[in-house]
Amino acid sequence: MSSRDNATHPGLAGGPVYLDYNATTPVDPRVVEVVAPFWTRAFGNPSSEHAYGAEPRRALAGARAQVAEFLGAREDEVVFTASGSEANLLALRGAVLAAGARLVVQATEHPAVLETAQALARLHGTRVTVLPVDHSGLVDPESLEDALRADDGPAVVSIMAANNETGALQPVAELAAIAHERGAVVHCDAAQACGKIPVDVTRLGVDLLTVVGHKMYAPRGAAALFVRRGVPLEPVVYGGGQERGLRAGTENVALAVALGKAAQLAKELGAERISALRDDLHHRLAAVLPVRVNGPAERLPNTLNLSIDGVRGHELLAACPEIAASTGSACHSGVHSPSPVLTAMGVPPERALGAIRLSLGRFTTAGDVDVAAAALIAAHRSLPASSQAR
Ligand SMILES: Cc1ncc(COP(=O)(O)O)c(C=O)c1O
Repeated sequence: MSSRDNATHPGLAGGPVYLDYNATTPVDPRVVEVVAPFWTRAFGNPSSEHAYGAEPRRALAGARAQVAEFLGAREDEVVFTASGSEANLLALRGAVLAAGARLVVQATEHPAVLETAQALARLHGTRVTVLPVDHSGLVDPESLEDALRADDGPAVVSIMAANNETGALQPVAELAAIAHERGAVVHCDAAQACGKIPVDVTRLGVDLLTVVGHKMYAPRGAAALFVRRGVPLEPVVYGGGQERGLRAGTENVALAVALGKAAQLAKELGAERISALRDDLHHRLAAVLPVRVNGPAERLPNTLNLSIDGVRGHELLAACPEIAASTGSACHSGVHSPSPVLTAMGVPPERALGAIRLSLGRFTTAGDVDVAAAALIAAHRSLPASSQAR
C-alpha cells in the first residue's frame, strides 16, 4: 500500500503526495465540523436584534476571542477580512493614508505587499523604499536604520515574518524596535508564520499583523488583521460600520468561526515532527542528488526550497507526478522566469530556474516522505541528459 492509500486527510486520498502546504492547506476536519451549522442552520445576520442574530453574534465574538488569544492580542484588536491580500491592503493603505506616511518594505515581500506599495505610489504619490536582502533573504537592520534616519515625517514599515518561498524568518522584533524608535507604524505579514511557529504580537512588537486561514487549515477566504489599539487606519471597505468601521460588509460568520477554530488548533504546532520529516526528505535527496538549499538554516520548520544542479524545477516536477509541489520560478504563458524572491537574494538565474519548493504540514506522513524522495530521485534520473546539462 502506498502512503497515498493511507492518507491522513480525506482530500489527500488517492492523490499525489501533497508537498505544497505553503500554497494552501487542506481544511482540518475539526474546522469543518464547527463551521457546518453556520452554512446550514445558524444563518442570521450577527447584527440582527431578533433571535436569529444571537447565535451568529456569539459565534463571531467567540471566533474573535480565539484569534486574539492565538496572537496574544485583545479581542477588539482583531479585524476579519476575506484574504491575506486584503488584510495587507487594509494595513498598508490604511496606515499610509491615515498618517500621510511614506512606506518602507523589503524586497522579498509577497506581491500583496509589493503591489500595494506600487499602487500607493501610483495613486497617492506615496514614497516607497524597498530594502534589499542578503544571500539568506534577510534584511540587515542597519539598512532599516538608514532608510528611517532622515527626519522625513511619518513612516509605515512592513516586514514579513516568514517568506512563502524559502521560509526565511526575518528579525521582525529587532526591526520593529528600530522602527518604533523612529516613530514608525510597523506591519508584519505573518501569513506563512501563523500555525507554523509561535506568533505573538507583543513579543514581535508590531502594530499590525496579517493572519491567513488557508495557510493554517481553515478554508480560503478566512483571514484577519491585528490592529493594535490606537493605531489609526483608513478603512478598506466603507459602509455599515462592521469590524470597527474598518471593513464594512455583513460578517462572514462561518469563515470567522473557521479561523477561530484553526487558531485554537494551531496552539499545537507539531513543528518538531514536521521539521524532522522535512530534514529526512532533504537528507535522502542530498545523499543521491547535487541539491542546494535556497534560504537560511533558520527558517520555517516545514519548508525546503532547493535547486538540483543542472535541472529545471518545472521539468523535474513534470516528470514527478507522484508529488504535488511548486516550482520556485514564475511561469507566464509557458515562459519560466526566475523567482523575484530568489533573484533578490542574489541566486543566479540558472539555479533559480532549478528551484522547487517542498512544503510539508499537519497531514504529511513518514510514508509520504518515502514516496516523495524515491519519486524525485527517479524523476531526476529519467530526465534527458540535455535537460540535466543545461
Ligand atoms: C506571505 C504571504 N502573504 C500574503 C498572502 C496572500 O494571502 P491570500 O491568498 O489569502 O490573499 C500569501 C499567500 O500566498 C502569502 O504567502
